[in-house]
Amino acid sequence: MTTRLLTTRGPARARNIRIAARLLRQGSLVAFPTETVYGLGANAFDVRAVRSIFRVKGRPSDNPLIVHVWSLDQIRSLVDVVPLMFWVLAGHFLPGPLTMVMRKARTVPSIVTAGLPSVAIRMPDHPVARALLKQARVPVVAPSANLSGRPSPTRAKHVQEDLGGRVAAILDAGACRIGVESTVLDITHRVPVILRPGGITREEIESVLGLRVKVARGHRTRVASPGMKYTHYAPAAEVIVFEGGIRSVIGAMKRMARDLEQKGMSVAIMCEEKHVRPFGQYEIRSLGTEEARSAAKHLYENFRSLDRSGADVILCQGFSEDRMGMALMNRLRKAATRRVRV
Ligand code: TXA
Ligand code: MG
Repeated sequence: MTTRLLTTRGPARARNIRIAARLLRQGSLVAFPTETVYGLGANAFDVRAVRSIFRVKGRPSDNPLIVHVWSLDQIRSLVDVVPLMFWVLAGHFLPGPLTMVMRKARTVPSIVTAGLPSVAIRMPDHPVARALLKQARVPVVAPSANLSGRPSPTRAKHVQEDLGGRVAAILDAGACRIGVESTVLDITHRVPVILRPGGITREEIESVLGLRVKVARGHRTRVASPGMKYTHYAPAAEVIVFEGGIRSVIGAMKRMARDLEQKGMSVAIMCEEKHVRPFGQYEIRSLGTEEARSAAKHLYENFRSLDRSGADVILCQGFSEDRMGMALMNRLRKAATRRVRV
């Protein structure tokens, strides 16, 4: 299969989004940008197309998919009982990077939810995603558009690397604004549970609801979110995350880098732009200038490029776990082989 790379820049934009929407309706797979990461889309009601998503990604069949919609009206055909809390949160955060888990309607194919009685619904705010979903006129399942076990794609070229030749088309709209996936929030309980931290923060949700939410820990709540039990992306290199006060963290990273280099290892560093200076002799990837928010935006892209660089070990600055730091540290710890607390 040849994968069509469809730009959304310039005069071809409208035509290319129309082509992509038609492909989705015809049962093909189309990768498209969202504000979080690129997704791999298929018509949620086309069981054959949904099945091919699992095949193409190499995704375990017991890991359910998120259904993406363009308008809140579509939710009535997907969800059995819509809790009041949904409308409250939707009013504040949708469209945007918040996915809500509710009781599913019978019409949703069970392959979408991996047999669960619940369905995850998301309304992305990326203008290309919105235009595509509107023109597709069907709800669209879309996992991140990477091969299972690889970092989620934040640019069209990452999708091409993983899925080129296996999907009908990739809509290219440049880099994703957020860079980590949406927050998955289970609202089937009186107290909602964050199953996966992401683009909408715990603090934002709590301030809208006026209550404390729970946060599922992978090892404590067993099947909260099936995706959490799978080993996540880990680069070929060993990843060591340093957590603590920033001065101690940078000091400890410097010492460890020197030690490892003396042992003949090839060392790579990931840290904020303002700390890169003392690491001049190593392979460096910057995590940007706006703390956790820009670190999250650069994380997956840095992992992909360090995978190609031949580093033996990656030393990475940790961040405090408030706001976007929660999603960032969740992904970082999943990739890490070791955590150093200083
Ligand atoms: O930002 C995002 O959410 C991206 C973009 C493309 O929209 N999508 C994404 O999909 O990250 P995926 O498939 O890579 O991750 C979906 C997560 C998995 O952890 C899955 O287990 C969980 O959502 N999930 C889906 N349906 C669920 C359900 N009914 N109950 C609990 N967890 C669910
Ligand atoms: Mg994923």
